[in-house]
Amino acid sequence: HLFFLMYFINCIFAGQVTYSIPEEMAKGSFVGNIAQDLGLDLKRLRSGKARIYTEDSAEYIELNKDKGSLLVKERIDRETLCGQTTPCALHLQITLEEPIEFYTVTVEINDINDNAPSFKKDEMKFRISESAVIGAKFMLERAMDLDVGVNGLQSYSLKPTDNFNLKLQNQQDGSKKVEMVLQKHLDREAQEHLSLTLTAIDGGDPQLSGTIRVEISVLDANDNAPVFTQEIYKVIVTETAPQGTVLCTVSAADADEGSNGKVSYSIKNTLDDVPIMFEIGEENGVVTLNGNLDYEKSKDYEIHVQASDEGGLTDSCKIMVEVTDTNDNHPSINIMSKTNSVSENSSPGTVVTIFNVQDPDSGENGKVSCFIADNMPFLMKTTSKKFFSLVTDSDLDRERASEYNITVTCSDEGVPSLSSSVTLTLQISDVNDNPPVFERSSYEAYIVENNTPGLSIFTVKATDSDWNQNARVSYILEDSSVNGVPVSSYVSVSADSGVIHAVRSFDYEQIKDFQFRVKAQDGGSPPLSSNVTVKIMIQDQNDNAPQVLYPVQTGGSLVAEMVPRSADVGYLVTKVVAVDVDSGQNAWLSYKLQKATDRALFEVGLQNGEVRTIRQVTDKDAVKQRLTVIVEDNGQPSRSATVIVNVAVADSFPEVLSEFTDFTHDKEYNENLTFYLVLALAVVSFLFITCVVVIISVKIYRWRQSRILYHSNLPVIPYYPPRYSDTLGTGTLPHVYNYEVCRTTDSRKSDCKFGRAGSQNVLIMDPSSTGTISCLYGRQCRIHRDDALCFTFPINIRKSNGTVSGNSRNHRHKR
Ligand SMILES: *[C@@H]1O[C@H](CO)[C@@H](O)[C@H](O)[C@H]1NC(C)=O
Ligand SMILES: *[C@@H]1O[C@H](CO)[C@@H](O)[C@H](O)[C@H]1NC(C)=O
Repeated sequence: HLFFLMYFINCIFAGQVTYSIPEEMAKGSFVGNIAQDLGLDLKRLRSGKARIYTEDSAEYIELNKDKGSLLVKERIDRETLCGQTTPCALHLQITLEEPIEFYTVTVEINDINDNAPSFKKDEMKFRISESAVIGAKFMLERAMDLDVGVNGLQSYSLKPTDNFNLKLQNQQDGSKKVEMVLQKHLDREAQEHLSLTLTAIDGGDPQLSGTIRVEISVLDANDNAPVFTQEIYKVIVTETAPQGTVLCTVSAADADEGSNGKVSYSIKNTLDDVPIMFEIGEENGVVTLNGNLDYEKSKDYEIHVQASDEGGLTDSCKIMVEVTDTNDNHPSINIMSKTNSVSENSSPGTVVTIFNVQDPDSGENGKVSCFIADNMPFLMKTTSKKFFSLVTDSDLDRERASEYNITVTCSDEGVPSLSSSVTLTLQISDVNDNPPVFERSSYEAYIVENNTPGLSIFTVKATDSDWNQNARVSYILEDSSVNGVPVSSYVSVSADSGVIHAVRSFDYEQIKDFQFRVKAQDGGSPPLSSNVTVKIMIQDQNDNAPQVLYPVQTGGSLVAEMVPRSADVGYLVTKVVAVDVDSGQNAWLSYKLQKATDRALFEVGLQNGEVRTIRQVTDKDAVKQRLTVIVEDNGQPSRSATVIVNVAVADSFPEVLSEFTDFTHDKEYNENLTFYLVLALAVVSFLFITCVVVIISVKIYRWRQSRILYHSNLPVIPYYPPRYSDTLGTGTLPHVYNYEVCRTTDSRKSDCKFGRAGSQNVLIMDPSSTGTISCLYGRQCRIHRDDALCFTFPINIRKSNGTVSGNSRNHRHKR
């Protein structure tokens, strides 16, 4: 009221009236009493038809003529009326007629705080990188307040104030620049969104305010590096792990978002082969094996892995890969030195091969042992862990095994064990260590006499188990002599073939057998040799006719046997004695009467040549009897001789003489006859003495032998007088002197009968296994061969009338 009053007074004095009212007054509100203020009475107002005139047509104020006061006719909004212009006034003209008068009335409209500050929008959006620097300014929207003066916009506030401060800056036009200033770093990772409230405040009473939300999106900056969850990863993998095996997965976290938080992994090794051997998933960090591990090449790996985001920030870690060994390597055998052949006489311990074994595996997997088959004459020797030598163990013998295939097997101790082997072929070279060996320990060969010189008798053969030259056998006749003649004049030996040839024609009657030695010698150096005894036995041929020893056949002289007329039947007239220098059947003589004066008077013993009477001699028988006896041997073809036996049948010598006068016609003949008779006597005497000596010496020998036999109880080796030894076993003793002994260790088993004795006594020794000894002509010795020996021996000589004859009754049977 005081305020109004003051205006009122002013108006009076200015001749005009000014009123001042607040805006937004209710209709009909009193503005001022102009009648009073202008000093006009109410009548004048009415009579003067007072009116309000305004330049614009708006009629906010009306005049109440009855009361002379101004009233609010329309709502008055100062902001509409004047905007920001101050002061704001309505200019009225009050006109009166009769007289026309003008009065000026000014109505000042005073502001009231009826408008709050306001923003055009509800919110403001900002996208601010978290990397924004401190002090960065961001323009905020200004608020509007229609009120003026103190009711107008006074100040701002921004809340919360954690990151931003509000900065107000007065501008020349009086308005304010509203900015927010970053005063603390944003961290998207901590707070991605900020929501601030900007409040604008006016100065009215009560204060009014308006707000706007400031929405801030914090944009990511690549301010975080990836970080591995582990600095070191440890992986153990076997060397046999296949390609593609996943070893481990590394992971790094990046707090940033988007591309700044997108981690990619890579292997950063450059110097080694790790980038080839391993692979890492760029996005997932899975580390896989890309190559083939080999413990023997590399036992461990260090993989440097880098994680990087797209902003280029990185972190790194290490993967320690430890490779474990598996037994994946076979031992390898390397022959360092090798002999292909070794001599069979090399001493045990001779080195054949040296080799080296390598197994790149470690530990047990690389521990190698080598061996060979048990049945080999070789030994495996270890000189060091990796070097082995193969030496000969026992004596070698090329003849037993000339070649060895030695399989050396080396195996490691891994589980399962791996092994490898190599086969060495070793030849055993020959040494001349075997002499030639004859197929038999001795040879006997037969050849028929009268052979052609140069005839091959038979072949000796020796083999040599050595090889090649050492086994090349040549045959050599060893020097010896046969009957004082070098054996080389009897036989020759073909050096290459071992064929024995007769050099001369043999005569059984001269030599029955002979022996010599043949040496077989190989071609080694020095040569080895062995020898063998070869006995050549010459077989008889019937190449000699029987020879009549008695009666002596002389050219002219006459020899006659005397037969007394009183002779009985079976009187032994004489005995034809013949020999055959052949042997066996060829010397088996038989006697036959070929011709006789009186065939009925005499007979000739077929076997013994005894001429006997077969009937009583009578007086009528002629004195002079002439017998022709034929002596035949048993050879094929047989040979024979004839002898004429003169027999005188007479009681007295004169009687004979008278009959035989024709025999004595020649004196010279008689002298010759006498000479022959004396000679025959001398011969017979000599033979007798010789025989006696022989018998005595044999008896002594026998006696001694029997004593020895008695003591030893052993079979006695028979004694053959050398001249009569029966080599061919045909058993013929061609001579007069036969002496038969059958001898056994048990004489009771012996069954020897000796019916006859004499030149025809033939003992056949059967060399076959029957064990029978057959004595011909009724005598048989049937004796077990092992037990008995039977032989013939000179036995009995009787001298009678200058003749020699055998006596069958006189023989020796000795045990
Ligand atoms: C050794 O091996 C060779 C070839 O494999 C073979 O010909 C020969 O007969 C073998 N020798 C022995 C003694 O096994
Ligand atoms: C013949 O061989 C025997 C052994 O069988 C030997 O004792 C002898 O000396 C050899 N003779 C010759 C002449 O070589």
